[in-house]
Amino acid sequence: MRAELEVLLGNLRALKNEGTTEVFVSEEALEALRERVAAVRESVSTETRGADAAPVASVRPAPSPVSSKKTPATPPRISPPPQQNPRAFEPEPFPPISFDEIVSSKSSPAKSVAASPEKKAPSFDVSVSKARVAAVPATGTNAERLAALCDQMLGDPICNEHLHKGKHLVFGEGNAEASVFFCGEAPGAEEETAGRPFVGPAGKLLDKMIAATGLSREQVYIGNIMKWRPELPTLYGNRPPTPDEMEYCLPYLAAQTEIIRPRVIVALGLTAVNGLLGFDPDRRIGAMRGKTLDFRGIPVVATYHPSYLLRNDSVKSKRAAWEDFLRMMEIAALPISVRQRNFFLPKK
Ligand code: URA
Repeated sequence: MRAELEVLLGNLRALKNEGTTEVFVSEEALEALRERVAAVRESVSTETRGADAAPVASVRPAPSPVSSKKTPATPPRISPPPQQNPRAFEPEPFPPISFDEIVSSKSSPAKSVAASPEKKAPSFDVSVSKARVAAVPATGTNAERLAALCDQMLGDPICNEHLHKGKHLVFGEGNAEASVFFCGEAPGAEEETAGRPFVGPAGKLLDKMIAATGLSREQVYIGNIMKWRPELPTLYGNRPPTPDEMEYCLPYLAAQTEIIRPRVIVALGLTAVNGLLGFDPDRRIGAMRGKTLDFRGIPVVATYHPSYLLRNDSVKSKRAAWEDFLRMMEIAALPISVRQRNFFLPKK
């Protein structure tokens, strides 16, 4: 049950990172969540009191857990666990899971829950060493240098330590001479299974957005800050990587950009921006849009993560993301047609 709450918290943080500021939760769901947290707390205090303690109160099954104006009824990144997690975390001692971060303790009729700033690391151990420095292979074609860098990463003991059993590290892929480098945050379930970036639903949308620029996926480069899928206590669900995790993986991403030297990097979502520029809890994607940022001398355009756009597919958010893509195209000196300029604008 604690694992479910961790996943829910991770998903809410991910939504917040991608720009969602509110989710709407029914009073029944709030009540069910409160009961679950209370039950977990009670079970922990019972365990600490010892075997003679009173039995833990049973918890009734929750009605549909979260209903949201902007998100589906169940948290979008959660799917049933395909198998037992080989790294299931130890459930004790119960960490200070910030339930109040998810659910306002006030039972207000307005049932709206503001997302709180992303400041905490997950409450289970995901600490990583900071010692790694990726050496940029000096000789060969770009493709050869990328392949050598990929070999370094595949042999990296820390990356391998964090890898789920039977899954893959995800280096990145695409044109070694690309003028546009798309940078996401971290592989998800589909990506760690395939060993390729952006192959799940968000990737399908990204492919369409790339195609709308007139480029193909093969003409650009696609990578992530993280090379492994950030661990969760369950095999299902995703969580944003911690600043330490991103700091550990960043040298690989930096080496990729140094080899490719794209004309522009498109940072997909706030987490990618934080990974590239350094973690800032006060940074907001809305405030980054429209500015040209810089990563080691390469212009960076920040935009919404495709998975945010999948959940917020209003014309307004599509147009906003498209404007970011237009700016990216201008920086990359790609041709822009009148039709492209007018995508998602009201027809006159
Ligand atoms: N989201 C990301 O940020 N990267 C991927 O590779 C897939 C989903």
